Amino acid sequence: MPETMTQGPDAHVHGGGDAVLVASDLVKYYPIKGGVLRRTVGQVKAVDGVSFTLHRGETLGVVGESGCGKSTLGRLLMRLEEPTSGQLEFEGVDMYAQRGRSMRKLRRDIQIVFQDPYTSLNPRMTVGDIVGEPFEIHADVVPKGGRRKAVQDLLDLVGLNPEHINRYPHQFSGGQRQRIGIARGIALNPKVLICDEPVSALDVSVQAQVVNLMAKLQQELGLSYVFIAHDLSVVRHISDRVAVMYLGKIVELGTEDEIYSYPTHPYTQALLSAVPVPDPTLRGHRQQIVLTGDVPSPANPPSGCRFHTRCWKAQEVCSTQDPELIDRPDGRSGHQSACHFAQVERILETVDLSHPQQRATTSSFEPTDQPPHDPIP
Ligand SMILES: Nc1ncnc2c1ncn2[C@@H]1O[C@H](COP(=O)(O)OP(=O)(O)OP(=O)(O)O)[C@@H](O)[C@H]1O
Ligand code: SF4
Ligand SMILES: [Mg+2]
Repeated sequence: MPETMTQGPDAHVHGGGDAVLVASDLVKYYPIKGGVLRRTVGQVKAVDGVSFTLHRGETLGVVGESGCGKSTLGRLLMRLEEPTSGQLEFEGVDMYAQRGRSMRKLRRDIQIVFQDPYTSLNPRMTVGDIVGEPFEIHADVVPKGGRRKAVQDLLDLVGLNPEHINRYPHQFSGGQRQRIGIARGIALNPKVLICDEPVSALDVSVQAQVVNLMAKLQQELGLSYVFIAHDLSVVRHISDRVAVMYLGKIVELGTEDEIYSYPTHPYTQALLSAVPVPDPTLRGHRQQIVLTGDVPSPANPPSGCRFHTRCWKAQEVCSTQDPELIDRPDGRSGHQSACHFAQVERILETVDLSHPQQRATTSSFEPTDQPPHDPIP
């Protein structure tokens, strides 16, 4: 890791590797317009002070309930949106200061895969046109004569039949469409892939295949992933570290082991207690935490700790003092948690990870014996 990066927001948590993306205090507020004059009457605090470092070859899982700001964060990381404030460095370059040609060049290095393979692909374009479109935008990457072959190679790489290059999206199943989206995402040989719920719209069995494909591509291409999901079980298999978000902020950030086995934030503990356990004989063993109340509006987040309106551990200080995301004890070396009363609760401790059936309860993504891709309907 370069010397300049050792002071990054969470550089100490991750052992090795260079920093690729460094987000510092990212904020995105959307104005709420009201009245006949369409004046700004409030602000939706979609992302409200997010800092982290993404290292080369690493996957950072980002998890949280609907509306907590995950997609907004993903768009900020690609500069599809300008931040209200904050900094973003890509390989040491200040992303938000770039203009014109230098920004266009940076865009090649950070690509996105969207959640819904049914709506994110243009139904009137062939698969070849969809996957090859980035080559039209960045014409210098592959010369015109070589583009068809480049697209076929990409289809092959993601487990699709290169001969299907002239087919349309509706001729493919959901999992295959997501493979098309991934092929497009990696076409320009990016360094970072932002994956915004890439498997949430797919059946569980197909989810496993697509996640396994993404893990394989990461190894082969040396990609770094920001992998967004609303469910902790989805990101476990692929994440090196996980950031748990609540109402625009990261509330806990640690290695996969720290988050799943030594969680210290009550919100993470509640999410873990909701990870599905298919084996009914094990369900009774696990601590169940049922969160009461709805997620508060990000236009009017609670004072102090934003989680205090739903937290069973809340005390008076929680409604007045916003807890910082800092290293807090977890019984081992400690990791980042934003709770005044951070304390380890081993929610999944009754699940013996050496037992295959139990293993499946905490990690849904064991390699399957399924064919490499689902058949065309
Ligand atoms: N362009 C926009 N204009 C106004 N508000 C927005 C805009 N985009 C997002 N928001 C609001 O910002 C908040 C965060 O939204 P975001 O889509 O980032 O959440 P999310 O965590 O991705 O949710 P989901 O899990 O449902 O995809 C929400 O309250 C949302 O309504
Ligand atoms: S700071 Fe207080 S309200 Fe917030 S998570 Fe910790 S105990 Fe709960
Ligand atoms: Mg989203």
